Amino acid sequence: MRPEESHIVRLKDYRPSDFLIDRVELDVRLDPRATRVTATLSLRPNPKGRPDAPLVLDGDELVLKGLSLDGRALPAGEFEAGPQALTISQPPRQPFTLTVETEIDPTANTKLMGLYRSGGNYCTQCEADGFRRITYFLDRPDVLSVYTTRIEADRDEAPVLLGNGNPVERGAVAGTNRHYAVWHDPYPKPSYLFALVGGRLGHVGKTFVTMSGRPVRLKVYVEPGKEDRAGYALDALERSMRWDEKVFGREYDLDEFNIVAVSDFNMGAMENKGLNIFNDKYVLASPETATDADYANIEAIIAHEYFHNWSGNRVTCRDWFQLCLKEGLTVFRDQEFSSDERSRPVHRIAEVKTLRARQFPEDASPLAHPVRPQQYREINNFYTATVYEKGAEIVRMLKTLIGDEDFRRGMDLYFERCDGTAATVEDFLDAFATVTGRDLGHFARWYAQAGTPRVTVGGTYDAAAQTYRLDFAQSTPPTPGQPQKEPMAIPVRLGLVARDGTALPARSERVSPQGVFLFDKAQDSLVFTGVTSPPVPSLFRDFSAPVRTSLDLTDEDLLVLLRHDTDAFNRWQAGQTVAMRLLVALATGAAAPDGNFDALAQALRDFVIRDAERDPAFAALVLTLPGESDVAQEIGADVDPDAIHRARRELRRIVATVCRDALADIYDRFAETGPYSPDAASAGRRALRNVCLDLLAAADAGLGERMASAQFEAASNMTDRLAALGVLTTLPGAAREDALAAFGERYAGEPLVLDKWFTLQASIQEDGTLQRIRSLMEHPAFSIGNPNRVRSLVGSFAMLNPTQFNRPDGQGYDFVADVVLRVDPLNPQVAARLLTAFATWRIMEEGRRNRACEALRRIAENASLSRDVADIVHRSLE
Ligand code: ARG
Ligand code: ZN
Repeated sequence: MRPEESHIVRLKDYRPSDFLIDRVELDVRLDPRATRVTATLSLRPNPKGRPDAPLVLDGDELVLKGLSLDGRALPAGEFEAGPQALTISQPPRQPFTLTVETEIDPTANTKLMGLYRSGGNYCTQCEADGFRRITYFLDRPDVLSVYTTRIEADRDEAPVLLGNGNPVERGAVAGTNRHYAVWHDPYPKPSYLFALVGGRLGHVGKTFVTMSGRPVRLKVYVEPGKEDRAGYALDALERSMRWDEKVFGREYDLDEFNIVAVSDFNMGAMENKGLNIFNDKYVLASPETATDADYANIEAIIAHEYFHNWSGNRVTCRDWFQLCLKEGLTVFRDQEFSSDERSRPVHRIAEVKTLRARQFPEDASPLAHPVRPQQYREINNFYTATVYEKGAEIVRMLKTLIGDEDFRRGMDLYFERCDGTAATVEDFLDAFATVTGRDLGHFARWYAQAGTPRVTVGGTYDAAAQTYRLDFAQSTPPTPGQPQKEPMAIPVRLGLVARDGTALPARSERVSPQGVFLFDKAQDSLVFTGVTSPPVPSLFRDFSAPVRTSLDLTDEDLLVLLRHDTDAFNRWQAGQTVAMRLLVALATGAAAPDGNFDALAQALRDFVIRDAERDPAFAALVLTLPGESDVAQEIGADVDPDAIHRARRELRRIVATVCRDALADIYDRFAETGPYSPDAASAGRRALRNVCLDLLAAADAGLGERMASAQFEAASNMTDRLAALGVLTTLPGAAREDALAAFGERYAGEPLVLDKWFTLQASIQEDGTLQRIRSLMEHPAFSIGNPNRVRSLVGSFAMLNPTQFNRPDGQGYDFVADVVLRVDPLNPQVAARLLTAFATWRIMEEGRRNRACEALRRIAENASLSRDVADIVHRSLE
């Protein structure tokens, strides 16, 4: 499909639905190949709609089996039914009831949207537009209905039957081996929040008592036999519920809260009302099978989906352009939760690393779009790092600008005003404008303007006047459809540090008591008075805005910040900035003064000796050099991934050689004792120790191999075992191959663990990797229909292996393009997501650029692409 032929949806064309559906009664008779769905819809014309509009219900691959209006079977001439729509041209102009019967085949549903089967169970995914694959409906988020769902199934096939809301009835179907359950959800909701589950499932559970004293039954359902891996998710759920009460005053509102883990799932998880459905990767955890990172992800995603109960469900989105209204806000909320549960600065650094690794490249690519897009062809392609992560940064900037108290008052007002409605970004900002009396019009530009602003800052010290002046300039690069950019409202949290490391007062009436300067013009200057010695400015503390910066600080100045800044984020950032400069110099063949390599290495050694014990998780981050794709982004044009790979190896070797004794010392002293615990402090010690191992291997491959092999054998948990295997994969030889084989055998029955094994092998930056991946695709544990498998083997190759994906001979591109074309007919969402790996193609050097472009063109020429893949490929080529 050519892009110009396909339908474009535009924000400016929004109009309210012509009809509303107040109540939905669903009767779903589950059957592997022929599930019958009877929907009884209480419809009425929308007073805000067009008075004489036809009724057009959305469908997708549906087969109509029966249709009646107010109990009267509709004759053929009065409606038109196709797979994509059911149209009644002359519907009643007063309330009426429509009964629609459809038949669907959940076993044939490989798109994993609508009702499908996973591991023999039945489950659903309706966001963004999957409900129309179950029944004809006004499948749009501003149509809110009260649902009652009767689910019927074979007792043996599906002993567990779950729906949204509260359970009201269950029983046997007389004379059969079937049974049913009825669920009622009293809260009006859009169709994308509908869910049901039927299957054989085990569970763990407990009772939670809400802040007003109401008991809620919590249950986490998993594959039978895996109940002992569901405890951490349940615990994280309970902590999330308590935290949302304490920090946002939000209480849960149903009698039950159920989470179901399924092994075939397109995304991370889904916040269906009272019945969250999860990719089992984000539920199941045991010390033997999950890493510290897995535990942290589970905690964050459990929290995220739970928090949606208010930011998403009680207040939902008017249309899909407002997706950031629920996603950006909910990511912000889950980040705050994780920061409170763990170490705040460490978590902040992790958030920024993710933003820079995923959102900045997107914002600099042909796929760049505003946090609130103006148009889309396929909404499922807009569940992006920009909507989620940059969306969260906007909420955080708002809080930084107005302060904690007004932020909480604004949130309260937003929930109060918008409860039970489908809202917009304007509604959200209005609440904060009301409580603060501020005009947030300029700030709102963050939602509309794509691209990462670049802020340049220069400093001038006047010793005689004891003043220090900072000159700020900003610009935002052009992005698709937005050639010209306006200045943004950028909160700059800052401070001044003396060269001896003491904090200097930063006096200026333009800096708020919290230390924030609002930089909202193309250029501006800030003068500090009473500055008694030449300062080093510490800017964008805590990463106060999602921007790129160019600072005229010397490496020496930055190393002062690394040692002394009171802001932990900027201590980390200072080290990263020095390392980045050296990496760029090495990779591009530019001259970097030799002494600076030593200065960085020695600063890091001092840091390890002095500070590593105090906060091991933070130390692990300081000792991790910027990644290869970060360097590629920084270089920004004519990128040679091989040169970057060599540069990073070289800098690691230099640093590790200077720090060697200190690293070995930490490695020995931090040896694991006692039983595994996933808590942040223990995880931090493991992280630091494993970074030490990794660096020691960079200094001395033989030593690294011996140490990693020993750790791999002796490890008592997956974190340490996988870290050791990760180090081994960078060292070609028999030890690596033996360890990989042993790991593969040991976890043969554990798909989620084998995913890690796939990922490690796909990430090996050597010529043989493509061949290795091709054979792994024949491995019995691999399945082209399972999104987790495809992502861990092929997705990792495309996203985490810059030298092999971007092979100069184009074979990496061709391989991924072939997989995209193979997956697309089965699962367009997974294929389209995989294809986004090509988004960075334009920054490559000419040879690779041409190869990537050829591969993209080959995809584009395909006649039968899904809308998902067609959209990504055409935007990538534009
Ligand atoms: N709302 C889900 C979340 O928590 C994401 C679901 C997206 N699914 C999809 N098929 N687009 O973030
Ligand atoms: Zn979400």
